[in-house]
Amino acid sequence: MAERVEAVRFESGKLVLLDQTLLPSEKVFLQLDDVNDVWEAIKMLRVRGAPAIGGAAAYGLYLGVAGVPDEAGRDAFMARLREVRDYLASSRPTAVNLFWALDRLVGVADRNAGAEVPTLKALLLEEAHAIKAEDEAMCRAIGEHALTLMDGVQSVLTHCNAGSLATMGIGTALAPVYLAAEHGRSIHVFSDETRPLLQGARITTWELDQAGLPVTLIGDGMAATVMRQGRIQAVIVGTDRVAANGDVANKIGTYGVAILAKEHGIPFYVAAPSSTIDFDTPDGASIEIEERDPDELRRLGERQTAPPGIGVYNPAFDVTPAHLVSAIVTEKGVVEPPYETNLRKVVRGA
Ligand code: MRU
Repeated sequence: MAERVEAVRFESGKLVLLDQTLLPSEKVFLQLDDVNDVWEAIKMLRVRGAPAIGGAAAYGLYLGVAGVPDEAGRDAFMARLREVRDYLASSRPTAVNLFWALDRLVGVADRNAGAEVPTLKALLLEEAHAIKAEDEAMCRAIGEHALTLMDGVQSVLTHCNAGSLATMGIGTALAPVYLAAEHGRSIHVFSDETRPLLQGARITTWELDQAGLPVTLIGDGMAATVMRQGRIQAVIVGTDRVAANGDVANKIGTYGVAILAKEHGIPFYVAAPSSTIDFDTPDGASIEIEERDPDELRRLGERQTAPPGIGVYNPAFDVTPAHLVSAIVTEKGVVEPPYETNLRKVVRGA
């Protein structure tokens, strides 16, 4: 298998991000050491996918305080840390991994009350590296658990990109596909194109193709037909946030796919590391859904595809209610309904 392209890495004091807005035509790596550029990269989806956003933000927070002079003192350092935390948190609202990662770094600084500035900086960078390493391990564990649901599954449908480029490992929804290949088995992926930003067409097909894995691109409106024709045996998607009751926010269009799966008697699985499960959010209605630039719908690249000033509604995510979700696959195991109790049991051991 070809070597995995890393979406997020840290090298020689710089955050190195694959600019995913340029895929599939160009493979450009950005080298960032300014927190403003990290904010912009998250906002503009140069780095995207919940776990990758969290990882990039963690390194961004480190970069944002790396320039604080060592002699500035702990209080000044902590004030700057909180300021940069809030700034990066304002980049995108829906993926909980962003806030989870930022708060994890702030927590490390809070817990080391006696530490001076140089030590604090080192601890923050160490924590960002830990988040990346843990995510990589979580992806593999999710893949192993998801494979237990894939007996007799030859083809899956996925929506958006929850693969290696959305994470710091082999992906969440696509992890079982990579692991199946490692075990000598092939799971074919049907990839929804995922309007309006085409993460399925541009990113999922590209990464699977790079890895030499079989993938077929379909338009978003074709999923129903593919299901009725019996071409897929399961749907598997990633998520930006799972609420405590099992409602799931993911890329706009996911909810429709879940309804279609139900109609066709096809299981609908959600793959999520525990960093994406938000026990502080009671249900899907409480999840803030990002609304993006109307021009994402009025234009296709350089081309105007709708009248310039036409009214647009452009939510980037939707919420799939828990009752449409057959199982949530975490690194700790497969969670089945009722999610109110079982998510806590499996993820927190409570
Ligand atoms: O707007 P994006 O491209 O960041 O949206 C990404 C998704 O919706 C993914 O499915 C989700 O973040 C899970 S990634 C493992």
